[in-house]
Amino acid sequence: MSEYLLEMKNICKSFPGVKALQSVEFQLKAGEIHALLGENGAGKSTLIKVLGGIYIAEEGEIVIDGKPVVINSVNDARDNGISIIHQELVLVPRMTVAENIFLGREPMGKFGVDTRKMIAEAQKMLDRFDLGIDAASEIFDLSIAQQQMVEIVKAISFNCKILVMDEPTSSISDREVLQLFDIMRNLARQGVGIIYISHKMSELNEVCDRVTVLRDGTYVGTRVVADTPRDELIAMMVGRKLDQYYTRDHVKNTEVFFKCEHIDDGKKHQKRVNDVSFEVRKGEIVGFAGLVGAGRSETMQCIFGLTRDSKGTIIMDGKELKIKSPVDAMKYGISLVPENRKVEGLYHVQSVSFNSTIEVLHEFIRNLMVNTAREREITQEYIDKMHTKTPSLEQTVTNLSGGNQQKVMIGRWLATNPKLLILDEPTRGVDVGAKAEIYEIMNELTKQGVSIIMISSELPEIINMADRVYVMYDGRITGCIDYENVSQEAIMKLATLETAEGESA
Ligand SMILES: Nc1ncnc2c1ncn2[C@@H]1O[C@H](COP(=O)(O)OP(=O)(O)OP(=O)(O)O)[C@@H](O)[C@H]1O
Ligand SMILES: [Mg+2]
Repeated sequence: MSEYLLEMKNICKSFPGVKALQSVEFQLKAGEIHALLGENGAGKSTLIKVLGGIYIAEEGEIVIDGKPVVINSVNDARDNGISIIHQELVLVPRMTVAENIFLGREPMGKFGVDTRKMIAEAQKMLDRFDLGIDAASEIFDLSIAQQQMVEIVKAISFNCKILVMDEPTSSISDREVLQLFDIMRNLARQGVGIIYISHKMSELNEVCDRVTVLRDGTYVGTRVVADTPRDELIAMMVGRKLDQYYTRDHVKNTEVFFKCEHIDDGKKHQKRVNDVSFEVRKGEIVGFAGLVGAGRSETMQCIFGLTRDSKGTIIMDGKELKIKSPVDAMKYGISLVPENRKVEGLYHVQSVSFNSTIEVLHEFIRNLMVNTAREREITQEYIDKMHTKTPSLEQTVTNLSGGNQQKVMIGRWLATNPKLLILDEPTRGVDVGAKAEIYEIMNELTKQGVSIIMISSELPEIINMADRVYVMYDGRITGCIDYENVSQEAIMKLATLETAEGESA
């Protein structure tokens, strides 16, 4: 028996203009959870796609249980016991959960696919996670978090010996994350080797045994997580020490600039926004905390003119605003960077430059003449500001790494020069270096008088960056905490109001 379950040796893979992997080494033991760490664009997903038969490396060798194997297709990978949860969701929206789980290996009866059996088996798998997902429902009707859990259940259902998870926790709630970690530990005990990709450093210590770091497509090193300080890992990742992570010069009691009263989504069923009132002061960063599903994104959608029947009063600079659509909102100087950027935000087949400037077209299109030089200038400015990694301004956005797509998106909204910037989970999927950059940009903007609303599920980010934090639970604001009094406990208490009441009852 070989010491390693999987060895990837001298893996090289290029794309036009990009050396995505250069002689990368990776070794996985049976029963270990091995983190793959690196900045956006470091090559993590590419390495995983080489293992999964989606990309074929120009050079290199893959060895499983001591034997060299050839993986030229997704089927080859599956035959070698490899199962992958990709960073982008790949479920078929108009099919049921069960159909998606069993795609290509449906249980057959006398008359074709045995749908009843398929749904029953899928339901059994789902119930192991206690998710409350119905195997017969369509993917289309599930939340992103639920879709993510279906992906996970599907991947595990293959009885694989190597399981790869590319940022599985980026859109699921804390409770689901804990369940996922339990499942991972369980699988590892049964000898499965797990490769885990995440930008959440705190998860490393919680669940990973060893970690391999990539930087700019090259192998930096492998360490035992428990023996390695976080600073060291960050330095390995970004090639330098990050001395300042959160940049925030807090403000207090500046004048009220923006105010919402009695915001309501107007829905009769499944109401998500219920009599929400809050205010934002000039140059403030106002955090919105709460569990997934608390109604934070929905509240902002009402304000931004995305919810048809929403009600309530919106006041800016003492004047009441009439917002019926995002165009109205933007006219008043409000910008919203949505949470689900993959689906809502980007024109995937268009270039980086198209995506960066789509919201500010008026700045370089005059009388139907496109000022290409100006378009390039704006694009370049935000690529520089955000340190977006792209081989050129003409690169199609789908070909950027996940985190870099995110940076293009945020840059685009910064280009609109908003007075009120609403950021929904701004650092999701973004590496530590880029996070620090985004925090710095936010701090800069507020100094120029911009007010920022930041929805975030990452408590450290809320605690360190926000001047005041509103906490929501079940469509309502349950409290407001200023930066001098904020703590994890204080937020969680307000975010889980129901349990607190339940206990006292
Ligand atoms: N299909 C493709 N065509 C062209 N370039 C690509 C393609 N896929 C990836 N790249 C480039 O290869 C490099 C590595 O990308 P990769 O997706 O592996 O990064 P990553 O480490 O997964 O980053 P992230 O943390 O942002 O997901 C990036 O520079 C990216 O732009
Ligand atoms: Mg990736």
